[in-house]
Amino acid sequence: MLMTTPPVCDYEGSDYQSSFWDQGGRAYEDLAEAIALKRLLPKSGKLLLEVGAGAGRNTPRYQGFQRIVLLDYSRTQLEQAQERLGESDRYIFVAADAYKLPFVDGLFDGATMIRTLHHMKDAPAVLREVRRVLQPSARFILEYANKLNLKSILRYMLRRQDWSPFTPEPVEFAALNFDFHPETVRRWLKEEGFALERQLTVSHFRIGILKKIFPANFLAWLGSFAQLTGNWWQLTPSVFTLSEAVGETAIAPESAFFQCPQCDQAPLEERPEMLICSSCDSKYAIRNGIYDFREPLT
Ligand SMILES: C[S@@+](CC[C@H](N)C(=O)[O-])C[C@H]1O[C@@H](n2cnc3c(N)ncnc32)[C@H](O)[C@@H]1O
Repeated sequence: MLMTTPPVCDYEGSDYQSSFWDQGGRAYEDLAEAIALKRLLPKSGKLLLEVGAGAGRNTPRYQGFQRIVLLDYSRTQLEQAQERLGESDRYIFVAADAYKLPFVDGLFDGATMIRTLHHMKDAPAVLREVRRVLQPSARFILEYANKLNLKSILRYMLRRQDWSPFTPEPVEFAALNFDFHPETVRRWLKEEGFALERQLTVSHFRIGILKKIFPANFLAWLGSFAQLTGNWWQLTPSVFTLSEAVGETAIAPESAFFQCPQCDQAPLEERPEMLICSSCDSKYAIRNGIYDFREPLT
């Protein structure tokens, strides 16, 4: 029995990290994100969940956390992350769908989701899942793609774009790629049990000509001041938010960790090469250091 969840934007086999970041001329955007993360990350923490970790580009930035779970639907992205991060007990690699997180309630004291919400057809459902696995008072850093950015406003005014940046609904500008309205994201966060603490606007200078003229670190330095206006207005293509998990919800017992994404049973029995659910008998592979929950073994 497989769960019905919204479609996944599949990065399996993708060269996203090298083509988009390493050779894609995005040093400025990467630096701008590093600055935002440094501002928003708690100084310390025990266990962080990175949702849509990809090839682990941001993972080395989560310095204060003792352990980090890198979760991504794509196994090949996680393999690249393993290469980048090297052998370490600090990292746990999990291939799974963000709509059905394979963890017990109240497990994590922090979570990040960077450049991943924009692939979610049902964004509130994913935020609900993230909230479920967080302890009360945990911190959640969410980045989202903002439809109300200056470029889209200009294009709309010049009639070069048919969708309105001002309306609250998400826009799917390419298959499974969504831009969101800031007010809508704020409302979803509130509805799903998060109290918004801070917003930073990121990538003010994501403009080809500026990136050609000025070095990336100069633009990032300049942008670091502009980020600070993020609580007042959000007109950049990318917005970083910091929220606190609120409400009286569970804290996972020390011994608990994984739960079955098919039937929610926990704990799972761990064997060297698989995890087994004693309730629905689903089996999940553990291969080359990656726990794979995408589909049970047959
Ligand atoms: C644009 S990449 C961002 C990767 C990384 N966060 C970064 O900023 O470099 C989006 C990632 O989200 C993952 N993803 C998309 N849909 C997912 C889902 N439903 N569950 C888990 N991961 C998903 C993709 O596999 C991909 O690695």
